[in-house]
Amino acid sequence: MRLAVIGHPIAHSLSPHLHEQWLSASGLFGRYEAVDVTTDELESLFEAMRAGKWDGLNVTIPHKEAVIPFLDELEEPATIAGAVNTIYKREGRLIGTNTDGAGLVHALNAWTDWSGSVLVIGAGGAARGILGALPTRNVTIVNRTVERARHLAEAFAVHATTFEAVDVSRYDVIIQTTSVGMDGESSPLSLEGLRQNTLVCDIIYRPLVTPFLREASLKGARTVTGVAMFVGQGALAFEKWTGVKPDETIGMKLIESLLEE
Ligand code: ATR
Repeated sequence: MRLAVIGHPIAHSLSPHLHEQWLSASGLFGRYEAVDVTTDELESLFEAMRAGKWDGLNVTIPHKEAVIPFLDELEEPATIAGAVNTIYKREGRLIGTNTDGAGLVHALNAWTDWSGSVLVIGAGGAARGILGALPTRNVTIVNRTVERARHLAEAFAVHATTFEAVDVSRYDVIIQTTSVGMDGESSPLSLEGLRQNTLVCDIIYRPLVTPFLREASLKGARTVTGVAMFVGQGALAFEKWTGVKPDETIGMKLIESLLEE
């Protein structure tokens, strides 16, 4: 089995570590490489894939949309997100899907039964994928650009609010999907008034603990780092390629240890 993640740049990708561990733990013969490709090189990469060079791919920045014209079919999660993060083959056809949203929901299933209300911070591509996968419509979107929040809320039949009006004490689950916090200093939203026991998740994993998550745990919330979504999306991709459900606990441990180094 020949697998790879494609992106540009790609050197710091953690996916090879995760999937190589799962390949060997599952007793499968195979390799998972990180392949740096520019947009101009996508066409020849997909010719090579059709000729048998690759059995499956993960796709990351900046190619998640650019790969779509080279595929034969998109699964619904990719259509909803407008982006592909996983490509697999069925009877010679190249099929694109997106496991990010379902990967996060799958990871959070261990923490919540989704019977409470959910706040999603952000209205970009990541938020769209997550909204498509959430098993509840008891959801509110808050975003800097209010129009984007409203637009997305309409598309998914959920609510929208503003940073000025949002009351964090009203939510049982809060999912942070913006890029705010990657600098290790900023936070998209004050958690003043947060209830203890609220489940707070940030999809950022570099840094492993964002200022937002740190504030949440200081307030007594249950917190989930971006490693959960990273490992969740990887697990669903691995299953598509191999038919094997990988061990997510060992995956989480490995990725957390690499990020703590
Ligand atoms: P992605 O595909 O990773 O979600 P995106 O589509 O560019 O990326 O969306 C980025 C998200 O982060 C958006 O919700 C964006 O808010 P806007 O819609 O107002 O742009 C949010 N974001 C980025 N920088 C931000 C900042 N400094 N403060 C608040 N929100 C920010």
